[in-house]
Amino acid sequence: MRYLVTSALPYANGKLHVGHVAGAYLPADIFVRWLRLHHEDVVYICGTDEHGTPISISADKEGVSPAEVVNRYHESIRDAFSTLGIGFDNFSGTARPKHSEISQEFFSALYNKGHVIPRVTQQFYCEHDLRFLPDRYVEGTCPRCKAPGARGDQCDACGQIYETTTLVEPRCKICGNQPIVRQTTHWYLQLDDFREKLTAWISHKGYWKENVRNFMLNLLEQGLIERPITRDLSWGVPVPLADAEGKVLYVWFEAPIGYISSTVEWAERIGQPERWKDYWLDPETRLIHFIGKDNIIFHALIWPAVLMGQDKTYCLPHDIPANEFMNLEGEKISTSKNWAIWVDEFMEKFPPEYLRYYLACNAPERGDSDFSFKDFQQKVNGELNNVLGNLANRVFTFAGKNFGGEIGHRDLSAAGQAVLDDALALYAQIDDGYRDYQVKKNTKLALDIARMGNRWFDERQPWAQIKTDQEAVKETLWVCLALLRLVSIALYPILPSSMNRLRSMLGLGEAVDWEQFDPQVDFRLGETGPLFSKLDDAQIDAEIELLRQNSLQHASNGNFEPIKEQIAYEDFARLDIRIARVLEAAPVPKTNKLLHLKVDIGSETRELIAGIAEHYKAEDVIGKDVAMLVNLEPKTIRGVRSHGMILAVHSEGKLSLVVPAGDCLPGSVVK
Ligand code: MF3
Ligand code: ZN
Repeated sequence: MRYLVTSALPYANGKLHVGHVAGAYLPADIFVRWLRLHHEDVVYICGTDEHGTPISISADKEGVSPAEVVNRYHESIRDAFSTLGIGFDNFSGTARPKHSEISQEFFSALYNKGHVIPRVTQQFYCEHDLRFLPDRYVEGTCPRCKAPGARGDQCDACGQIYETTTLVEPRCKICGNQPIVRQTTHWYLQLDDFREKLTAWISHKGYWKENVRNFMLNLLEQGLIERPITRDLSWGVPVPLADAEGKVLYVWFEAPIGYISSTVEWAERIGQPERWKDYWLDPETRLIHFIGKDNIIFHALIWPAVLMGQDKTYCLPHDIPANEFMNLEGEKISTSKNWAIWVDEFMEKFPPEYLRYYLACNAPERGDSDFSFKDFQQKVNGELNNVLGNLANRVFTFAGKNFGGEIGHRDLSAAGQAVLDDALALYAQIDDGYRDYQVKKNTKLALDIARMGNRWFDERQPWAQIKTDQEAVKETLWVCLALLRLVSIALYPILPSSMNRLRSMLGLGEAVDWEQFDPQVDFRLGETGPLFSKLDDAQIDAEIELLRQNSLQHASNGNFEPIKEQIAYEDFARLDIRIARVLEAAPVPKTNKLLHLKVDIGSETRELIAGIAEHYKAEDVIGKDVAMLVNLEPKTIRGVRSHGMILAVHSEGKLSLVVPAGDCLPGSVVK
């Protein structure tokens, strides 16, 4: 069978975090490695998604060109994948000329057949920034589920997509103002033209994961509305029409075409420029898209329609394994709040395969999952080390010491055969599991094989057996080695380099196929050593602390408080702010935050309590002139009548009093 496997093209506007890897990349890489063990013909394709508003927003914010942002993140993402052992055959990018060319052809084919038609429409326009605001430049309340913080084209809370102008309480993301609605022309994909074909196609997809299938059936039932596939932007693939100046193809229209352009690039790179056709134009090829759940509608509805509307007969997706999301320490991963684990940083501290193992154990297959450092430590120490590493270590040590690492095959006792048969049954289940993308269950089953080995070793007590019955000891060891050999294949798709190391200790070559068990195998061990090592508490605690620090620091740096609602001058005039000269200051007993101040405000003296003691010593404020709100209602704090409030600024964790830049008399009014 021939396969083309893809992982969703990550946006080139940020680094890779563990949530990305858990959803669309690691599961695909594992599947591809498993296919290769079965000698299937497979090409694994990816690249970065380099257009679209998120990227132009990042570039605007940094004051650099979109191309600069894209190049930086393309490299960072590519390197992180490669360190993690995600083995794409080609990793391209959608800003490359070939991609534009193919995307324009796709658009033109649809246009020429009348599946794309222009409409004069209403669109948000920001009068402050003097520009049209495409989808993600606007935020508001979801028109469907009423969740706040909905993006211009899709709501994260309910997953629905909608016309941007139906957003409730829209805001321009550049300046925060409310945009107005203006006229512009856009080109719409007539999805309904494909309704019958789509319905027939999906009716054969009974094997799809339930989340994907139900989502789709629901959409088809609701009816297929036309979707605009152009945008007013300067960064993107130009719309190939004479009257479409300043417009580009909608990123979600052209990004999936990146799967094709990356395959074309691959074929050229290997010197067989026609080879891409085997994977895209041969109806026998199985096209499999690994994605996160927020991408379902684009891959299962719009993309197949786009493929159906071409002149050539392209393969349609055979399957679309969509994963749920991974949270982090119980909270949603958020790059804007810096609540994330960045893959490159993580791999500087921990072996990449520990991350692969943990994300596989914890794959968000059927529901959202959670990344927790303690759990990560537990999986590495309690499973990789204490179960698998321990079995390998005790068996290798024992076999080395007593038999020079050579254990030939033999007739097994009933008990030995029973252990082996149980392990073989698990091995077969694991094979089936990979076919169904059941990575999480497979980590458990593979570890169960190792658990069986440990139990058998304990029961047989070779350390006692060795004194009386050498042959029985050899049987004990041979069964354990046979189990380790099964594990070295069963876990290979998840832990390729560790399993190849295990295989070399077992005296075997690298994993190349899903081996059928050979009862005649004689083991001659290679150089052995520890397979894994443990993570200590201090290291894990430090990571948890760092995560919290990073997110706190981020909050105090870039995340400005929203500007409050507009007020009239009269509202401001009600505040009576004056210059106060500090006459006396003393710490308030039993607190470390408060100072008790006596100040001169010209017409009178006042006493008040100020929460500045962590930043100012009493003696440092005496004699200072500071701004003070003098008509605030008095309040009793720690037994002192505090009458007024001195003004101060919090910035980067420090507090500074607000003082006039020149000399003023106490009591002068601030306005
Ligand atoms: N860049 C999108 C995301 O990260 C995924 C694009 S998948 C593609 O959500 F098919 F459109 F390329
Ligand atoms: Zn604006």
